[in-house]
Amino acid sequence: MKRKLKAVCAGLLALAIGLTASGCGMRKSDGKKTVGIAMPAKFLERWNRDGEYLKRRFEDEGYNVELRFSDNNINQQVNDIQVLIADDVDLLIISAIDGGAMFRTLEDAAIKDIPVICYDRMIPNSEAVKCYVSFDNYTVGQLQAGFIIDSLGIDKEDNDDGVFNIELVMGDTADTNASVFYRGSIDTLQPYLDSGKIKIPSGKVTFEQTATPGWETDKALKNMQNILASHYSGGTTLDAVLCTSDCLSIGVIQAIQTDYNGHNDPVITGQDGDIAALRALVDNTLDMTVYKNVQHEADATVIVARTILEGRTPDDSITSEFPAKCVFDNETYNNGKEPIASFLLTPEVIEADGLEKLVGTGLYMWDDDHRYLRSTS
Ligand code: GAL
Repeated sequence: MKRKLKAVCAGLLALAIGLTASGCGMRKSDGKKTVGIAMPAKFLERWNRDGEYLKRRFEDEGYNVELRFSDNNINQQVNDIQVLIADDVDLLIISAIDGGAMFRTLEDAAIKDIPVICYDRMIPNSEAVKCYVSFDNYTVGQLQAGFIIDSLGIDKEDNDDGVFNIELVMGDTADTNASVFYRGSIDTLQPYLDSGKIKIPSGKVTFEQTATPGWETDKALKNMQNILASHYSGGTTLDAVLCTSDCLSIGVIQAIQTDYNGHNDPVITGQDGDIAALRALVDNTLDMTVYKNVQHEADATVIVARTILEGRTPDDSITSEFPAKCVFDNETYNNGKEPIASFLLTPEVIEADGLEKLVGTGLYMWDDDHRYLRSTS
């Protein structure tokens, strides 16, 4: 009886080991290193593109990849990262939904000596964070505000069109990028707000007042509808809406189409090059998007990751291997203990006549009648 029981136990143990080794919690035994990637959500288009492209690039370089999307849900992302840590990945790449909520989870990464690269969004106060790869997010905000100023001709000396009314639609306060975009925009607009050349009729001016929880299109739509009903229904002209991201612009455009009764087409900005936004550029309902080439960001991340996994410290010298211009900054961002190496790529403005350039990235292609772009993946 005892012998039978022993045999059953041994069998169960073998089964458990087999299951674990096949991917339920143990590093694979193929000798390859494993990179864990945590992206915010599949339904926000850019993260889908980033996640899949990063996966492909790391696999091409001979790494195993565990890729997780967390449905823009903070608890789910914490949970997803805990699973990646339990799986003993060799390195983590995280684009955090809420940078402030990562602290405890990343303590486990630090204990296990799993280095973390913050991808696009910075995570503050965690010693596990070794590097940050992103774009110059302050410049994104500057580009959007500068575009509005130029398009409306606000600072032309002979412009006596009076006061220009604009509204600001910002991102999620939990995302560390969102406040940087805001600062770039508001710093650029401030002289015109001070001189009275620009007004914000809704009175929503601060980052908190203009933020959109979860970066949700629907929330941006409803918020804009409320603003239009409360401040523009009496015939006030809306000259521009500074939307910090395409996912917000799309909601704002819908609100303007249905609820704005002015006779002008307000200037609207965006960011990312989402497919819906690129269609809106062609249709003239969106005026620009700040494009951040996902391939450049992912390729830079692969080089930074490889450097770390080979036991070297990423510094300015590796930027010569990057596919695009990049500023190396080891002063601005820190992990709570020391400054961390940050690699900041350069964003660029794309308008309707610049779509061919996006085709050149290989990520987009023209549809059959050469009118709109679609994704190649
Ligand atoms: C930001 C990111 C933007 C935009 C936004 C919404 O962190 O830098 O490119 O995608 O999130 O997802």
